[in-house]
Amino acid sequence: MDLTTRPRRLRRDETLRKMVRETRMDPSSLIYPIFIKEGTGIVEAIPTMPGQYRYSVDTMGEKLASLQKAGVSAVMFFGIPDHKDELGSGAYDANGIVQQALRQAARDFPELYRITDVCMCEYTSHGHCGVLRGQNDRLHGQEVDNDRTLEFLAQTALSHVKAGADMVAPSDMMDGRVAAIRAVLDEHGYADTPIMSYAVKYASAFYGPFRDAAGSAPSFGDRKSYQMDYHNSREGLKEALLDVREGADIIMVKPAMSYLDMVARIKETVHVPVASYSVSGEYSMIRAGAELGYIDEEKIICETAASAFRAGCDIYLTYFAEEIAGYMREGKIG
Ligand code: PBG
Repeated sequence: MDLTTRPRRLRRDETLRKMVRETRMDPSSLIYPIFIKEGTGIVEAIPTMPGQYRYSVDTMGEKLASLQKAGVSAVMFFGIPDHKDELGSGAYDANGIVQQALRQAARDFPELYRITDVCMCEYTSHGHCGVLRGQNDRLHGQEVDNDRTLEFLAQTALSHVKAGADMVAPSDMMDGRVAAIRAVLDEHGYADTPIMSYAVKYASAFYGPFRDAAGSAPSFGDRKSYQMDYHNSREGLKEALLDVREGADIIMVKPAMSYLDMVARIKETVHVPVASYSVSGEYSMIRAGAELGYIDEEKIICETAASAFRAGCDIYLTYFAEEIAGYMREGKIG
């Protein structure tokens, strides 16, 4: 056969395959999301996310230590408060659950990079990501009040930073929240604290297991009036560009697996680092498929992680962070 170009030449041996590999990964790109619950002595299995736990402030150290040992250098804190109310006051309480966790982590794990999810849904009695306006007695008459929510989000971010957050990550999808958070942080002397914006966040059924884990499902309606419609792509560029203009330092696309087209588009559109969040439903599908023996868990974890980096993300948030760091160390991916 007279073939000048034979792509298979470069695939013949492992050393060569690694030499020409286009996507290089490293544990320093990984962020592990952790759930912290009020109380003591808690290590509670999350039924819809086998292998994941809710920790209390006094027990989280064990997990943080093993993450660090595996080479994962950053965590994202989610809080599960005892008390919820209409205004989500636990979110911006100086002594709230995330604030307590931050202070403890800063003391015990000063090297660990602390990021917080800034949102109200875990703290509001109605489970929405902001405060409501409209009639209390006619539920469908209520909606999330965008502009009034901004001040609550800004105060939440400020309280996180005061308690020791190195970076804040607003996930509520209100218009103008990045600017509001940036302004309050700057005003209080935190001009150097970066904001990672969940800018391109879709209204997704993949968050189902998370809402069980965090008890944050909306008590009425859904999140479609603030999270994006998954039929849309150009709208994601609009969101990302707006947030960069408002001061976002990192842009996140969420979920990961079904939205890699958006990771690639955003990477070309903005000139800040891009994060991709492999959410709870993605985690649980892999765990469930593996438990049933339908798929090879380790290989699927490696392949899905590599696909996110191949699409262009610089940062990958995943409940498999510790496992992936191990696979990278063992040379299974990376
Ligand atoms: C809070 C928030 C959610 C997730 C991250 N931040 C839930 C939601 O928007 O309903 C989902 C994370 C996951 O599914 O792993 N607003």
